[in-house]
Amino acid sequence: MLFLSAAMFLLASGTPAQSPPPASAKLIAAPGVETLRRHCTLCHGAGMITARHMSARRWGALVDQMISRGAKVSDEDYKVIIAYLTQNYGPSR
Ligand code: HEC
Repeated sequence: MLFLSAAMFLLASGTPAQSPPPASAKLIAAPGVETLRRHCTLCHGAGMITARHMSARRWGALVDQMISRGAKVSDEDYKVIIAYLTQNYGPSR
């Protein structure tokens, strides 16, 4: 019963692809989170971001700073990132 033992092995090994990597676990799941993760967790962890609560203007200035440090963010992604940050890490929370 080679087929059966292969199936048992697959069951026993679970589905690791479905659990997110630990570094991303802390980011609030909301529209734009994937865009942010793609651009903003390359050089440092998400904890750098989640520790902050700022206005759209200050997030904009910070993202500009990250771009000057080497982050490559298109105009479209820039808007998504600022919207995500302001919505989820805005000054009121
Ligand atoms: C090219 C690498 C790189 C990318 C990409 C990047 N950062 Fe950074 N980030 C840094 C470096 C380097 C620091 C340095 C921190 C320091 O001053 O010690 C930093 C610091 C920070 C800080 C702390 C700033 C402070 O003054 O303490 C925040 C918040 C942050 N990044 C958010 C972001 C966000 C949001 C993005 C996505 C737009 C992003 N980073 C993308 C390199 C990067």
